[in-house]
Amino acid sequence: MSERIQAIRGMNDILPEQAAFWQTLERRAAETFQSYGYSPIRLPIVERTELFKRSIGEVTDIVEKEMYTFQDRGGESVSLRPEGTAGAVRAGIEHGLLYNQVQRLWYAGPMFRYERPQKGRYRQFHQIGVEAFGLDGPDVDAELILMSARLWHRLGIRGLTLKLNSLGTLEARKAYRERLIDYFSAHDDVLDADSRRRLHTNPLRILDSKNAQMREVIEGAPSLLDHLDPESAAHFSKLLALLDAAGLEYQIDPRLVRGLDYYSRTVFEWITHDLGAQDAVCSGGRYDDLVTQLGGRPTPGIGFAMGVERLVALMRQQAVAVDDVAPHVYLAWSGDEAQATAMALAERLRDSLPGLRMLMHAGGGGFKAQLRRADRSGARYALILGPTEMGSRRVQIKPLRTEEPQAEWPWNELAPMLAARLGLASHEQAATEEY
Ligand code: HAM
Repeated sequence: MSERIQAIRGMNDILPEQAAFWQTLERRAAETFQSYGYSPIRLPIVERTELFKRSIGEVTDIVEKEMYTFQDRGGESVSLRPEGTAGAVRAGIEHGLLYNQVQRLWYAGPMFRYERPQKGRYRQFHQIGVEAFGLDGPDVDAELILMSARLWHRLGIRGLTLKLNSLGTLEARKAYRERLIDYFSAHDDVLDADSRRRLHTNPLRILDSKNAQMREVIEGAPSLLDHLDPESAAHFSKLLALLDAAGLEYQIDPRLVRGLDYYSRTVFEWITHDLGAQDAVCSGGRYDDLVTQLGGRPTPGIGFAMGVERLVALMRQQAVAVDDVAPHVYLAWSGDEAQATAMALAERLRDSLPGLRMLMHAGGGGFKAQLRRADRSGARYALILGPTEMGSRRVQIKPLRTEEPQAEWPWNELAPMLAARLGLASHEQAATEEY
């Protein structure tokens, strides 16, 4: 036997047993975003490396150590996308979607970061993200946050905490950065190697350090919120007022600085206490300078991305209700003649009931074995078609999950009977509902 090839560390197979969670999350997200006027966009997985350097920032962990970067066969440096915002902005500029107009976009797909894998942190992971362009008021910030809260509600996810901060404008942040360098330089004996390295490149990230020995010195550091420019301070307090009016709870966290350089003003994260160290399930913020940094005309932007693996883990842990993906019906048959009829019946039922999930038995085997498979498939009913039923032009319908009695039904009345039992819209009904 040849040696088996295994998946790459940190890159997971998402197996069918997880399907119901993934699909429920993806569907509720799409419905929720649509209900706020967001349109889907699909973006390439590979982009020029330069795009990520100029947006996420040269001295961030992502660009310094986590990107999957390689030369393609033409000699160009390209990278697997570590996140979706840079690509969305690039596409927006390239296709003229941003200038003088409002765009509300959402996307979903795999992202890649060469991080140290652990629970909730992977090298290939999935995000569902949204970006709103062309709106600079705090009302959009509030709406976006309310939209995320609505999604948690629709999913039945409980116990998330919203953390908020404002990073001010780039200029205000530059001044604050100098203050922070002065402060941490005066305490440099307490700093760990990582923080010392960041002191002159990205001192704000020191605030984010989890090193317990540095906690006291970090707590004593000047707060960014005390150094906001007046417009950013007004923007932030209006956002808070809107969230208060909407009755949404939040915590202001002056140490929330985010790991990507493109943010200005509002930043936020939704945190769970149920998953351990990787506790952010959704993060985002405003990036009013990013479009110009990438060569477009000044256009404000704000967005967030959710970590799908983390949300799925939370949905499982909290046992939230998910869409059923098991088959409704397993169609068992016996004999050559019955096989052809069963296939024709199955196709007709799929014509009439577009929402029907039906497994037709394939391969041989007697009814006993077929019914065992029907049971294992999770189906609610078995339909049985053997020589006797061929004669009577009927099928047996055997409930697999309830105590309903077994019944017999004529072929041409199967569709309305199943529609009623399964609560499905038949094709005719579906068509009339549109009017
Ligand atoms: P981010 O905080 O880097 O932001 O990632 C967003 C979310 O993706 C995180 O909150 C987390 O749930 C998930 N995530 C990140 N890294 C991993 C990983 N290695 N494994 C599993 N899940 C992970 C962004 O990516 C920004 N583009 C968000 C944004 C959109 N800001 C504005 N618009």
